[in-house]
Formats: sequence, C-alpha cells, structure tokens
Amino acid sequence: MSRKVRWLTVLSLFAILSMMLVACVPAAAPAPAAGGSKATDKVEMFSWWTAGGEAEGLNAMYDIYKKANPNVEIVNATVAGGAGTNAKAVLSTRLTGGDPPDSFQLHAGLEVEKYDPAKYVQPLDSLYASEGWDKVFPKDLISLLKYQDHFWGVPVNIHRANVMWYNKKVFEDNGLKPPTTWDEFFQVGDALKAKGIVPLVIGTKEGWEAGHTFETILASVLGAEAYKGLWNGKTQWTDPKVTQALEAYKKIMTYANTDYSALTWSDAAQYLVDGKGAMHIMGDWTDGWFTSKGYKDYGWAPVPGTQGIFDALSDSFAAAKGAKNQANLESWLKIAGSKAGQEAFNPKKGSICARTDCDPALFNDYLKSAMQDWSKDAIVPSVTHGAAAVEKWATVYKDILNTFATKGDVAATQTALQQACVDNGVCK
Ligand code: GAL
Repeated sequence: MSRKVRWLTVLSLFAILSMMLVACVPAAAPAPAAGGSKATDKVEMFSWWTAGGEAEGLNAMYDIYKKANPNVEIVNATVAGGAGTNAKAVLSTRLTGGDPPDSFQLHAGLEVEKYDPAKYVQPLDSLYASEGWDKVFPKDLISLLKYQDHFWGVPVNIHRANVMWYNKKVFEDNGLKPPTTWDEFFQVGDALKAKGIVPLVIGTKEGWEAGHTFETILASVLGAEAYKGLWNGKTQWTDPKVTQALEAYKKIMTYANTDYSALTWSDAAQYLVDGKGAMHIMGDWTDGWFTSKGYKDYGWAPVPGTQGIFDALSDSFAAAKGAKNQANLESWLKIAGSKAGQEAFNPKKGSICARTDCDPALFNDYLKSAMQDWSKDAIVPSVTHGAAAVEKWATVYKDILNTFATKGDVAATQTALQQACVDNGVCK
C-alpha cells in the first residue's frame, strides 16, 4: 500500500470512528431547525416567573410561540419564589431524576455549573451560529454566557440589580431629594423617620434579598474593579473596605421596616406603592411589577455610590438533555432569542433586551435610561443572580448575609465571607 493510500485508509477509519462516537453522545446538539414539530404536541418551559410583570412578559413570548406553533400545547411549569429560591432545587431534582422539562430558566454566568452541564444540558453552539446570535448579543454578555467554551442558554434580557426605587410623592411632600451617597441617605432617612415614614423598605423572607442588597453596597463601597475582584480572588474579603460595607449595611438596616423577615421583595415594593415607605433597593423586575400594578409614581436612581456601575444579570433559557419535545423546544429557543420575542417580553418584564437591535421606542423611561447606562457604565456581575460565582458559593453568601441582616455581627460575617471564598478555591 502506498503511503498516500495508507493515510487515506487511516483517515477514513478515523472518520467512521468519529461518526460512531458522535452517534453515541446523548442529545448533544439540538435537532435541525423546525417551525414547530408534528411529532409531539407539547413543550414544557420551566421558570420562577409568577409575579406581576414577569408572568406577563413570559406570556407575551408564549403568544408569539402559539402563533408560530398553533398545534403545540405550552406547559408553563413554574415554581414561585424570587431569584429561583425554590425553583432551582426542583429543577435539579428533575434533571438528575430523568424527568427534565424541555427548557428551563438559567442565569447567564456560573450558575450553569450547578446543573452539571456535560450531563444534563445541551450545548447550543450550533443554534448560536445558525441564528447569528454571537453577533447580536453584546460582548460582555457573550463572555458571561460561555462556560467551558460552550453556550448553554439563550439570553432573553439584561437586568440591573443596583436600583434604588423611590416614591416620588413622599420625597416631594417632604422637600427631599433622593440620596446619591450613604451620608445623604442617612440624612434623608433621619428626616423621613421624624415624619413617621419608613425610609427603606426591604423584605428578606425568601433568603436572597439581604444578599442582593449587600452586593450593591459592596459595589458602592469598593467600586467596580475591587468588587469584581471579590469573585476572582484579586480582592480579599478581609479587605477593610468589606468591613466598611458591612458597617454601612448594619446602619442602613436601622432605617428599614422592622417586619422585613416576613416580607418578600414584592411585599416590600407594595409598601412603596402604599406610601408607607420611601425607598426600596431591588432589581429592575420591580419596574415590570410596578407597571403591572398600574403604579406610576415611582422614581429611580442608582443605589447610593453606584453611579456609573451597572450590577448586571441576565436570564436565559436552556435546553435539557433528554428533552421530550426537541423540535418544539428548538422553536421556543429561537423565539426567545429573536427580536420579536425580546421586544414583546422585555417592556413587560422590566428589563432591557439581550439583543442590541431592539426598538427603544417600545420601552418606558426607566428602561430607556437602563439601556443608556448599560452602554456606558462599568458592568459588574451579580452574585445573588447567578453571574459572579458558582451556585454553592452564592448560596453560602446569601445565607451569611441573611443572618447578618438580623444579627449584625460584622466581624463574624466578614470571617465567614472570607472562608466561603477559600472553600470555593478562589481565596487562599
Ligand atoms: C432574578 C431573575 C429575575 C427575576 C428576579 C425576581 O433572579 O433573574 O428575572 O425573576 O429574580 O424573582
């Protein structure tokens, strides 16, 4: 056999072997494009979107899906609880128990690690290529979406975590201006307290809200770069600035409603609507929630000290390996990533599009301001919402801060936060 023929034989054997191996890989990539399948008549989407604004946004995308796939029944599998508090555990059980939904909500970033993607999640690289998504999603988001060099979810939005919502009338009636620094916050807070108004409304019932509030204070006290460093080991949690942030948080909590541990984020937002409280630190799903309530008298500002910082997170939809309705699922992912899908979803959800080509005219003033800030601010990843750290670290972080909200032990909390970083192999 000539050398050339031998090489060709080796190469073709290699090609056959590769094809056999590919055939053995379970559900690695989505099936070829289809506008809704005839083979099955269902598609199941799993999320935690049950509150006002988020449920409406999801339904708006479902409406588009129904038009494109009139014969497919949508199974809207939701598990209530902000930030996925309850949903994520149910999802894990379903994935590992061999009963996956077709598609599920997944934060862009390190959260995907929780679900053991090599085993349970379909890589979506080929869909990204065929839909041209690598060109319509911003660079910062693209790098957040890649984990172990693959895309695992189709982003539907970008949310901002560091927003301070306020009741405009309360401020106007009392001749006050929304604070831009924590010192101003304390002054405004004292003035409001003297009038019998709760300065800051907060609800920590679901266990993640205290961590959410604190990450915005961390960004405020440390600045964008040092905050990011907390998640990659460049900033130690023993840093005096972390002490300062904890001290600030402790003082801030003395301006909060006393029933916080009995309230969810939306219960707290209701206090603002009712004029019982003046300010609320929460992500911009609150904008969607206010809108769904028909409440218009709210103002917004970055959390004091976070001007120029955008604490970001993004919701995506992933595809489960072993999905029962592959073609219907793929049609869903295409709608989730499309301009029409995102323009229908985001104005209701209170988020901006993940895509860069949505029409700003469809969005309210708050969301228009968020679009501008996203394009010029320093982007930092939210830990409470899956972007900055693996889920087991994020969970420990949330638990530590939840305890801190009530106990207020600065030294013990800081030690526990450093330990959590060490335990996750990021700090020494
Ligand atoms: C976040 C999620 C948002 C919103 C919020 C409140 O984690 O990304 O879309 O649902 O929780 O539940």
